[in-house]
Amino acid sequence: MILASLYFSPTGTTRKVVRAFAEGFGGERIENDITLPAGRSKALMDGGADLFVFAGPVYGGRSFKLLTGTIRKLEGAGRPAVCIATYGGRHYDMALADLYEAATAAGFQVIACGAFIGEHSFSRNIQTGRPDEEDLAVARGFGQQVRGKFEAGSLAAMASEAIPQRSVDLDAIGMHRERLGHLTPNRPAPDENCLHCGACASVCPLGLIDVNDSDAIKPGCLKCNTCVKTCPVQSMQFRQEAFKEVAKNCEETFGKEERQPQVWFG
Ligand SMILES: Cc1cc2nc3c(=O)[nH]c(=O)nc-3n(C[C@H](O)[C@H](O)[C@H](O)COP(=O)(O)O)c2cc1C
Repeated sequence: MILASLYFSPTGTTRKVVRAFAEGFGGERIENDITLPAGRSKALMDGGADLFVFAGPVYGGRSFKLLTGTIRKLEGAGRPAVCIATYGGRHYDMALADLYEAATAAGFQVIACGAFIGEHSFSRNIQTGRPDEEDLAVARGFGQQVRGKFEAGSLAAMASEAIPQRSVDLDAIGMHRERLGHLTPNRPAPDENCLHCGACASVCPLGLIDVNDSDAIKPGCLKCNTCVKTCPVQSMQFRQEAFKEVAKNCEETFGKEERQPQVWFG
């Protein structure tokens, strides 16, 4: 049995969940990691897969268009798919519905979906260290359950009404539209401790950082914080008040809330 995954995962939490799922499912694996520009320049590998996994982080309650746009270009031909959203402890809102919609538009049958917890991109103090060993055990178990359904011949497509979703409500955590607007131009910058090692440039999913000059950061930052979390000397940081305020607000409102992974089947 061949499992093909297609995922976007700047800070790597989604990648861990996808790999644990694939381990549980077993068989041959094909990975399409479209996080970095280099990954997106390659042709997608299908390999005649029996099962597809589409996975990515929740951004503002939605799935990232770069991921859903890529899913739409595939040829599902009625094959089964699993959708996984990884979120930083607030909520997944419409993200699974977005993945479902893209997968079904491409001709896949979504047979299961899952929402997993990942340390929040904005801060190490929100859902710290997730997915942890217990989360990954759930992801492996999820893969085993899907494998069991294949073997029992009991795969059933999920109807759109069965996809867990709720309307995006960022007001609940004080992130109303106006405040988010202030956040848009914010981007990180290195301070005088920068080693010019290029680590930040090599992990920016949008390729916005010049590898020879980490001060030259183009606009369009996603706020994925991968460069911030990767910098070996913590030189790369967001220093704008708007971003710091939102990150603090997230830490205070749901940073320590108890959240567990959830899975659903057709
Ligand atoms: C711009 C942005 C918006 C986000 N919005 C949400 C959100 O609406 N709800 C939530 O729970 N987490 C949110 N997160 C956190 C990520 O979904 C979470 O950290 C995820 O695990 C990151 O996945 P990755 O490690 O695969 O990049 C957001 C992160 C970023 C960068």
